[in-house]
Amino acid sequence: MQQTAVVETGVGAQAEPARNVKVSAENCSVFYGDKQALFDVNLDIMANEVTALIGPSGCGKSTFLRCINRMNDTIDICRVSGRLMLENDDIYDPALDVVHLRARIGMVFQKPNPFPTSIYQNIAYGPSIHGLVASKSDLDEIVERSLRRAALWEEVKDRLDQPGTGLSGGQQQRLCIARAIAVQPEVILMDEPCSALDPIATARIEELIDELRQNFTIVIVTHSMQQAARVSQRTAFFHLGVLVEHGETDQIFTNPAHDKTRDYLTGRFG
Ligand SMILES: Nc1ncnc2c1ncn2[C@@H]1O[C@H](COP(=O)(O)OP(=O)(O)OP(=O)(O)O)[C@@H](O)[C@H]1O
Ligand SMILES: [Mg+2]
Repeated sequence: MQQTAVVETGVGAQAEPARNVKVSAENCSVFYGDKQALFDVNLDIMANEVTALIGPSGCGKSTFLRCINRMNDTIDICRVSGRLMLENDDIYDPALDVVHLRARIGMVFQKPNPFPTSIYQNIAYGPSIHGLVASKSDLDEIVERSLRRAALWEEVKDRLDQPGTGLSGGQQQRLCIARAIAVQPEVILMDEPCSALDPIATARIEELIDELRQNFTIVIVTHSMQQAARVSQRTAFFHLGVLVEHGETDQIFTNPAHDKTRDYLTGRFG
């Protein structure tokens, strides 16, 4: 006999927009040697949203961020336990190609770090090595599209052959963002991407982050509460390696569930 699923629609029920989990962490713990830096973190990161990771220095924000694209693999003494999933793929599956994973989950660092090559080559390198292009005109198109999306095209279109390192700090960071999006990642991780920038350059990057979430899932570490409030839809507060709470940014900022979160947000520590 066939089973029939009963779907209760409910009269007048509002259709909720679909919320998809892009990355999920289950009991994620991290050790550096015998020192534990993260304790059983459980966190779902939603697709096409910006999630802000906040908390005092040393609480494990960067450590958690680096778990997501296995950048911690590059630290000899680092060991990760628990489970991290990128949709249906186990991020720590030994059979997974880490280079491919990092193309799916790109990263932007605190200090802009363009390659010591031309602006064009900075963007073209990733798509070339990942085999995303068939011809020079494909590549030209990707370079232009990535620079446009990173709101840098107009400023650099006449000097694509000049070194990326010759740009201003804010431009270099937008170049790094363009480089990250050129390989069409699904997730972009940003570790304090504005901390080396002035307020004007910061505002541009924040605008950009807001636009990018249409196409990407973004996780950003920030020390600026204002920035977290401005750019993110969800916020996760860490303290001493523990994820104290997470939720909608508005709720975390106006009505946190934990005193520790409130104390941090009101500047009582950190
Ligand atoms: N490479 C490493 N080797 C050993 N310990 C580390 C390493 N990286 C981080 N740690 C330790 O792990 C803990 C969490 O550090 P992490 O860098 O993740 O904190 P954070 O929240 O990003 O801090 P900050 O806001 O200062 O960047 C800290 O106690 C730190 O000393
Ligand atoms: Mg950090």
